[in-house]
Amino acid sequence: MVEIRWTIYSNTVQLFLNSGESIMSDLENKTEVIVEIKDVYKQYPLGRVMVDALRGVNMDLYKGEFAALVGPSGSGKSTLLNMIGCVDVPTSGTVLIDGNDIGKMKEKDLTKLRLEKLGFIFQSFNLINVLSVYQNVEMPLLLQGRYTKAERDEKVRKIVERVGLTKFIKHRPNELSGGQRQRVSIARALITNPRIVLADEPTANLDSKTGKEIIDLMKEINEQEHTTFIFSTHDDRVVSRVERVIPIEDGVIKKQ
Ligand SMILES: Nc1ncnc2c1ncn2[C@@H]1O[C@H](COP(=O)(O)OP(=O)(O)O)[C@@H](O)[C@H]1O
Ligand SMILES: [Mg+2]
Repeated sequence: MVEIRWTIYSNTVQLFLNSGESIMSDLENKTEVIVEIKDVYKQYPLGRVMVDALRGVNMDLYKGEFAALVGPSGSGKSTLLNMIGCVDVPTSGTVLIDGNDIGKMKEKDLTKLRLEKLGFIFQSFNLINVLSVYQNVEMPLLLQGRYTKAERDEKVRKIVERVGLTKFIKHRPNELSGGQRQRVSIARALITNPRIVLADEPTANLDSKTGKEIIDLMKEINEQEHTTFIFSTHDDRVVSRVERVIPIEDGVIKKQ
């Protein structure tokens, strides 16, 4: 029997309804590769020298994973997340996101890929201070430009409720705590029902209790909605809550 779960994310509903048991078991066994990184090098020019930020990274990420890149400052975590997030392209090697080779794509298509398939959560929240919680969360849907006001309203209210901020929906970011702001960015990242959510040190600006709550919320969404999460951290307290740790050092992924 296939369990049909009604979720707030329409694509997820379709996935369950249309694809039946094989996809269900793929999700559960996490066998569908969603990110493929092959022999990736990234160099940045720094004055007259080149900095080797990534030195031959090979990594696969499976749909439904909850994975953390863990390594000291300067190890290449942000650089690697920027590749997966199509914010930057490798100097050499290939990055495939949901089958798309990002090194071969035009800027316009990369922008579309980012908007349609990826969600971003940042260390410093990156919310727009003059906009309310509602408006910040609605923003990606406005950029997509395909929903009516009523459809957007329904989506925004559901996801804001999901992250526990209904009471604060009209507030501005500067009227919220750090943990609440990060919940707003989680809602904003999820509103488009992305294939992958990327979070660069999402707990770095939070106290440890709040940091754990944020990781737990991400984990809960990962388990319930099968959204793939990859985030970076050098915080040992959050590492213990992650099912897959990808250790990175000096631009190389260490043997696991
Ligand atoms: N835009 C850039 N220009 C020059 N060097 C950079 C740039 N971005 C990152 N680096 C260097 O690349 C290395 C990896 O950085 P980064 O990916 O930010 O590490 P992490 O996120 O693990 O702290 C570091 O040595 C850093 O100084
Ligand atoms: Mg970083």
